[in-house]
Amino acid sequence: MAEELIPHIDDREDKPVARIGIVVCECGDKISGVLSTDLLRERSASLPGVVYTMSGPYPCNIDGRSRLSQAIIDHKLERVLIAGCAPRLVEHLFRQTMAEAGLAGCYLGVVDIREQCAYVHASDPVAAMEKAANLIEMGVARLTEIDPPKTFSSDVVKSAMVIGSDLSGLTVAHALAGGDIDVSLVERDSQLGGTMYMLQDGAKELIAESVDLVSKHPQIQTMLNTRVTEVTGQPGNYQVHLAQDDQNFELNVGAIILATGVRPKSLDPNSWYDRSLVVSQIQFAHELEKATDANGKLALHDVVMILRTEDAEGGDCSPLCCMAGIRQAIHAKQLNPDINVTILFRDLYLGEAGGPGENLFLQAKGLGVNFFRYRRDYPPVIGRNAVEVADPLTDQPLKISCDRVVITMPLVPQDDSNTLVAMLHLPQDNRGFILERRIRLRPGNYVDDGIYVVGGAHYPTDTAETLLQAHITAARTLRFLGRDTLTTTGLLAEIDATLCTGCGNCPQVCPTSAIKLEKREGLLSLATVDLLRCIGCGNCVVVCPVKAISLPGYGDPAILAQISAALSSPGLVEEVEGIDQPIPKIVVLACEWSAYAAADMAGARRIPYPADVRIIRMNCSARFDPNHALWAFLNGADGVLVGICHKGECHYGNGNLYAEERVTALKKQLAEHGVDPRRLRLEFFSADDGLTFANSMNAFRDEISK
Ligand code: FES
Repeated sequence: MAEELIPHIDDREDKPVARIGIVVCECGDKISGVLSTDLLRERSASLPGVVYTMSGPYPCNIDGRSRLSQAIIDHKLERVLIAGCAPRLVEHLFRQTMAEAGLAGCYLGVVDIREQCAYVHASDPVAAMEKAANLIEMGVARLTEIDPPKTFSSDVVKSAMVIGSDLSGLTVAHALAGGDIDVSLVERDSQLGGTMYMLQDGAKELIAESVDLVSKHPQIQTMLNTRVTEVTGQPGNYQVHLAQDDQNFELNVGAIILATGVRPKSLDPNSWYDRSLVVSQIQFAHELEKATDANGKLALHDVVMILRTEDAEGGDCSPLCCMAGIRQAIHAKQLNPDINVTILFRDLYLGEAGGPGENLFLQAKGLGVNFFRYRRDYPPVIGRNAVEVADPLTDQPLKISCDRVVITMPLVPQDDSNTLVAMLHLPQDNRGFILERRIRLRPGNYVDDGIYVVGGAHYPTDTAETLLQAHITAARTLRFLGRDTLTTTGLLAEIDATLCTGCGNCPQVCPTSAIKLEKREGLLSLATVDLLRCIGCGNCVVVCPVKAISLPGYGDPAILAQISAALSSPGLVEEVEGIDQPIPKIVVLACEWSAYAAADMAGARRIPYPADVRIIRMNCSARFDPNHALWAFLNGADGVLVGICHKGECHYGNGNLYAEERVTALKKQLAEHGVDPRRLRLEFFSADDGLTFANSMNAFRDEISK
């Protein structure tokens, strides 16, 4: 089908609104097969601010985009609205086109008349047409209200600090120095290398080699017996305060790499152990080392190793502990083949089938190491000369002789990890290991771009994985430090200093600690935003009691204007028992990462849901303000649904939990004021679950109709 462009120019220079251009996509005949795109174009021409409209089969192809580019220049467009397919499919293309034509990409709006209209309401073209026209109206309403975003730049300091000197820290430091970066290697102990190498296969030699390389490298400054006391600044420019012996000093670096590593948990201080009999794996490693130096004289007869005694059921398993135990059992047998070695375990974590863990296990079995699975309700009891367990066959107590008991304790983060984590605003798991911001979607990304975590600081790793992580981290850091300046633009919170009362609400809910309170001369404190740290979730906007914070693109005026436009049409009717009944109007405030994507999916799969549902795209449910729902009710909405990501899946930390709390509180208030709280609903969605989305809309409509 030949492309047909029908420009409509309506210069209303006197209007104080931005000049808007609208492009209606026919998407071949996927949209125009159901909707009249010409009629949509004509209807949109009368919307406020619209000075140019165009429709065509594929405006997203090179030809279509070059026409748009020309139109932006010729008609001095200040905003562009695309009425076509799902925003996430085309947004980046049109943003690029706009940038090439000199218009910032933030002034783009995309409304989805394909998945949300033509696909999902194909059986009812009249309703689909009304909805599409209304979506364009909503898009225009939003564009007239968005503010220009701020841009912020900062220079990048070309140096890095590595905190911790286990194998991962040494490897990163050396790789960064090899990339011509000045590195400060900070170690709290009096020597480099740590002690965990005792449990890592082949790490001892590698560490000795790395220590040698690092010590001799002219671009690495090693600081022993040194602690980090404070970190200030922002990505690309951190001020790190350090304490060494009695001296305090400060260093300025562009990136910080945490390589604090792990340590075995201490033996339970509440349990009594005969310390001449019971040792930890690291102590046993020293014992084996001494025996090796003394030409294999290991003066022991019966060694019992207990894997994971304390937290065996606590989910703290890592392959490092089990494999280290088996490796040491093999070593003991190699030193003295007559020795009896028994490994008592609950679960053996050996990694993938046929991998190094399984090979170690088979080797140990071949050398005569005994493996014995103890019962959960009958953990090993350490006696003076024997360890007692229950015989699984007879259920009778079984005594295993011992003159050495080796206990493998779970591996936990180093002692100083918690302090560093608090300073750098990093999230932790329930064991204290550092978590990535979103492990599945953004592995290796932490709160700040300039902070990296490597090796055992985020979970126990073996030698191979430690080295792999170290090289990946070094590559990421080098790429980050390779930039001269960091520039951030787009979704960033802005605070109006004339309105801020310094109440302190916003710093409390900021997931990245980007907001701080500063003292003002003779005035109340002022909240300020670190723009390089702000991720634009909008949580601060919601909690500000005086509305001093805004989020360009998702400001209250833009959201409220969309809600008003969504509810401006008279609405649809349906015939029930011969009488026309209005169809309930439902507004969905949809997180773009879950509910909005699920709506796209429902459309793509042609799963129908009521045509009077209007979906407003939000960056995250953290931006949901109870006032949005109240505004919708005031403007005639019969129901408001807040669609959010599942728990633990919010891209901005806990934005969904805040939304849940706000919806619960608002429901209570609605009930107190005589409004049926069932008109407000909160639902969790996955991005790919179109069926759930459609089912939720149908169920909500049915409930409201009743
Ligand atoms: Fe979906 Fe936060 S990103 S709720």
